[in-house]
Amino acid sequence: MAGLKQFIYIYGPPGVGKSSTGKILAESLEIPFFDLDIEIERNTKRTISDIFSKDGEQKFRKIESEELYKLLDEKSGVIALGGGTLLNSDNLRKSSAMGPIILLSADSQVIQNRLSADPTPRPLSINSDMLNTLLNDRKNHYDSFEMKLDSTNLNPIEVAWEIQKMIGRYQITGMGNHYPVYVQENCLMDIGQILDEKAIGKNIAVITDQNVADFYQNDVLASLEKWGFDTSFIVLPPGEESKNIHSITRIWRELLNNNIDRKSTIIALGGGVIGDLAGFAAATYMRGIDWIGVPTSVLAMVDSSLGGKTGIDLPEGKNLAGAFYPPKMVIVDPTVIATLPTVEIKNGLAEVIKHGIISDPDLFKYCEKGLEYIKSNWGQIIRQAMAVKVKIIIEDPFEKGIRATLNLGHTIGHAVESLSDFSIRHGEAIAIGTYQEARISENLGLADKGLSEAIKVCFSSLDLSTEIPNFINPKQLAQSMKFDKKRKDGKLFFALPKDIGEVKEGVEIDDLEECIIEIIEGK
Ligand SMILES: NC(=O)c1ccc[n+]([C@@H]2O[C@H](COP(=O)([O-])OP(=O)(O)OC[C@H]3O[C@@H](n4cnc5c(N)ncnc54)[C@H](O)[C@@H]3O)[C@@H](O)[C@H]2O)c1
Repeated sequence: MAGLKQFIYIYGPPGVGKSSTGKILAESLEIPFFDLDIEIERNTKRTISDIFSKDGEQKFRKIESEELYKLLDEKSGVIALGGGTLLNSDNLRKSSAMGPIILLSADSQVIQNRLSADPTPRPLSINSDMLNTLLNDRKNHYDSFEMKLDSTNLNPIEVAWEIQKMIGRYQITGMGNHYPVYVQENCLMDIGQILDEKAIGKNIAVITDQNVADFYQNDVLASLEKWGFDTSFIVLPPGEESKNIHSITRIWRELLNNNIDRKSTIIALGGGVIGDLAGFAAATYMRGIDWIGVPTSVLAMVDSSLGGKTGIDLPEGKNLAGAFYPPKMVIVDPTVIATLPTVEIKNGLAEVIKHGIISDPDLFKYCEKGLEYIKSNWGQIIRQAMAVKVKIIIEDPFEKGIRATLNLGHTIGHAVESLSDFSIRHGEAIAIGTYQEARISENLGLADKGLSEAIKVCFSSLDLSTEIPNFINPKQLAQSMKFDKKRKDGKLFFALPKDIGEVKEGVEIDDLEECIIEIIEGK
């Protein structure tokens, strides 16, 4: 079975938090939650202990399998399994074909404490000797699951979030319309089936650029046609030069020529340029039609596809016209990074490192290991880097507060980018900006000495320079920053790193020029 995985299973011994975590996870993803034990009791109108004591375990396991298969006929959901449901090899095979199984574990004493503190009646009562025997007997079975999560030191909300990061499933809320984000290896080849499963209308326009089309147009078209989609492609020249009103006019007119109407859907297949353009075209064509983001560059996956910002550049500057217009869903296939040129990979990784500094020290550590490590672990790195932004935009969809932390490195970075006439690429400029802003943070006493060096070493391991180029002088840099788009009431606020994993937003600097001279002259 291809398409998107329909179910998420929470499994493990009694007391690890399968039900409480499953419920929270389902609520966050806005999908149904099923507790297999409760389904069994409801449908048999008997308690599990009654079935066990009167009919024996074998009979119980038979009922359990039947109830599990009934649930697998549902469309999708989170299923909290019983502690031994997957001892049955058929149950294991059928379940794993339809979604990831997360094995929760916890220290046995912690499990015992949780079980005795929990007032809700359990399907089967269990004392500490029984628990230890069960854990021993099932050790090999539980160890055999690939996705494991130790819940000993986490509450159910934290466990649910860790699961989301492991499997790459998010639901973005807070902007009026909620939308899901799916990360799944090789899913691009199943795009037709996925859109069919999600009941997307059959009239589709795919907007992409020539580089991406060269690699993926044929496969995407074949998949869409196989699932009965009437598909047209609009292929633009690659690069920032396309992000303008002329491309938008061209897109509007091609959409009209291809009979795209208000019930049709635009697919944005490409990097951040395509996402911004296609999203803005969707926001404005016929006063707004649905669109789906299918980001293909690292930067687009971890940054631009999330948050609903769409737009174009004007001759006067970048991103000066646009709209907040969230997509209907975002579908990410990390395997397409294989065709992304190295220079683009590094460009995106600067944002990944930035996300690590904002709130995920583990992500920062992965980046410190260098490009070869990253290339062998794209799935995990993309999922975690996305999680940082997802969490922030859910909390602050319209950039009223904490979302400003995402501007780390961007105040100096944007100025460097623009003073270099964009010969320095965005990611390179963000590396410079993040390091230099860390130095400001140290000078202000916000961060301990040594933070900027750690950040520099991390960027250097990916061959990203952190020095302000010689052709930019302090006065110019300070001047350019004064025109930053992020000014409020004429004042410029920085997001400055306090530590790896912690950023303070809203820091106003009294004498900007003096401060820039200090960092450029290395004081
Ligand atoms: N909307 C937002 O919130 C937001 C946030 C950050 C950046 N952005 C915008 O994103 C843009 C930059 O995005 P980008 O770095 O992805 O640039 P891009 O879209 O130009 O893509 C970079 C290059 O990689 C190529 N490419 C993309 N995916 C590929 C793949 N899988 N295989 C081979 N080639 C591939 C593209 O053709 C292009 O040449 C900028 O315009 C920026 O303003 C928007």
